[in-house]
Amino acid sequence: MTRVLRIRNGQALGSFRKRPDGTDDISHWELPAAAGPADSADVANLEEAARHLRQTDVPVGFPTETVYGLGADATRSAAVKGIYAAKGRPSDNPLIVHVCDLEMLADVMRGFRRAGDDDGDAVTAVGANGASSGLTQRAPIDLLPAIYRPLVERFWPGPLTLILPNPRPSRLAPEVTAGLATFGARMPASPLARSLIKLAGAPLAAPSANASTKPSPTAAQHVLDDLDGRIGVVLDGGPCSVGVESTVVDGLCDPPVVLRPGGVSLEELRACPGWEGVEKAYRDRAEDGNAGSSAPRAPGMKYKHYSPKARVVLYEASVRPRLVAGDVREAAEKGADDDGDRLAVSPRIGIVRTGRWPEAAGASGVQLEAKQRISEDVAAEVATGTSEETPALSYVIREGALSDAKGRQVAEVLDVDLGSDTRGIAHGLFSVLRELDRREVDVIFVEGIRDRDDIAAAVMNRLRKAASQIIR
Ligand code: TXA
Ligand code: MG
Repeated sequence: MTRVLRIRNGQALGSFRKRPDGTDDISHWELPAAAGPADSADVANLEEAARHLRQTDVPVGFPTETVYGLGADATRSAAVKGIYAAKGRPSDNPLIVHVCDLEMLADVMRGFRRAGDDDGDAVTAVGANGASSGLTQRAPIDLLPAIYRPLVERFWPGPLTLILPNPRPSRLAPEVTAGLATFGARMPASPLARSLIKLAGAPLAAPSANASTKPSPTAAQHVLDDLDGRIGVVLDGGPCSVGVESTVVDGLCDPPVVLRPGGVSLEELRACPGWEGVEKAYRDRAEDGNAGSSAPRAPGMKYKHYSPKARVVLYEASVRPRLVAGDVREAAEKGADDDGDRLAVSPRIGIVRTGRWPEAAGASGVQLEAKQRISEDVAAEVATGTSEETPALSYVIREGALSDAKGRQVAEVLDVDLGSDTRGIAHGLFSVLRELDRREVDVIFVEGIRDRDDIAAAVMNRLRKAASQIIR
C-alpha cells in the first residue's frame, strides 16, 4: 500500500530570499523557521516524505508544476536504482536533476567530492582540475555557461531543463546520467517541490511518476493508479498546472537546440539573447518519412509512449472535421457481426475535441446525455502551481449511444470537450486520456491542434507518440 500524504498549502512552506530591491533571489530557497498552526499537518507530511528520501531507497511521488515526478536522492546510486525498479523502465535513459535553488545547483556543478568514506558528511571542494579553487566564491549563476543565464533569469523556477556539463568527479550517481558527460537540471516552479528538495537535503533525480509507456501523471491519483504498492509515499499537492513535461534545451552546442518540447515554448526561447537561432533537435512522427506525401493515413508504429490502454487515433489539425464522422461510425459498426447483430459488448468510443470538431465528431445517430463536468480537486493547486493564468482542471464529458439506421445501439460514445485554449488543452490532456482509460474505452479519436511554436508543439509531440494511427 502506498500512502498519500496531502499538502494543502505548499506556498506557505518556503520562500526565496529577497534581494535588497525586494525581488526573489533564486539562489536561496528557505524554509520558514516555524510553521503556523494551519500548516503544521502539511509540514509533518512534507517531513515524512523527505525522511523517505533520505533514509530509504524507495522513491517518492511528488508534484511539480509540469507532471508528478518520482524522486530519489540524485547523489545515491541505490536510491536512483529504486526509480528504475518502481517504474519498470530500463536504466538507459538519463534522468532530470531537480534543485531547490541555484546554490544547490552550484554544489553539483562545482563537483564536490566525498573525502575518504562514503557517509556523505565530509566533503571537499575541488575544481575541475582537482585543485581547491575560486569556484566556491563565485555567485551561483556565474557558474552556468553564459548562454543559459538569460533563460534562468526568465524561466526559472519553471518548466525548463538545461543540459549542463557533469563535473568530474561528480556528486551525481552515475545512474542519473546514463553514462553521458552531461546532466539535465531543472528548478521546478512548484514551491512544494522545492521545499521537499530542500528538506531532503539533496538534488532529486525524477522522471515522471507513471509506469513506463503510460500517460504522464498530472494528479496524485494517477501516480497511485500506476504505482500503488511499488512506492511508499505520494505527496498530493493537487493537479499540476502545466500538464506536460519541461522543455529540455541544450545550449552547449551551436546553435542551441530543443531536445524535447514542453512547458516553455520555442517562441519564448527565441525571445532570449543567444537563442534567436534555436533549432529543434527532436522529430515528431508527423515529420517522419511520408510527411507531405499524398497518402492520407500513416501506418501505426510499434513504439508507443504516453499511451492509454485504448487505441489512440490522432487527426492532424489539417484534416477537415467532417471527414472524421465516417471513421467514428466505422469503428462503431465493427462491434456488429456480419449479419448486423450486436456482439456481446458494444464498443466504447472516446472522442476528444479541441475546438473545431462538432459534438461526437459529427457522427449521426448519436444521443448524448446531459453534460457532466469533471473537475479535479483544485483546492491544493496552489501547492503545485505557478502561474496565475493557468486554468483549473475542468472539462466536460458526455456519454451517449450511437445507433444504426434502425435505431439500435451499436456503440457507446464518450465525448470530451477540452476547449480550444492551448494551455488548457495541455493542462488537461494526459488527465483526459487516463479518464477515458478508466472508463474502458476501446478507441480514442483525438482532434489534433495546429502545431505552432507555442505549447501546442509539446501537446502534439506527446499525442503523436501516444497514437497508434495518425491521420493527416
Ligand atoms: O517536467 C519534467 O521534466 C518532469 C518533471 C517530473 O520534472 N521530469 C521528466 O523527467 O520528464 P524525465 O527523466 O522523464 O526526462 C528525461 C528526459 C530524457 O528523456 C532526455 O530527453 C532529457 O530529459 N535528458 C536528461 N538528461 C539528459 C542529458 N544529459 N542529455 C540529454 N538529454 C537529457
Ligand atoms: Mg516521462
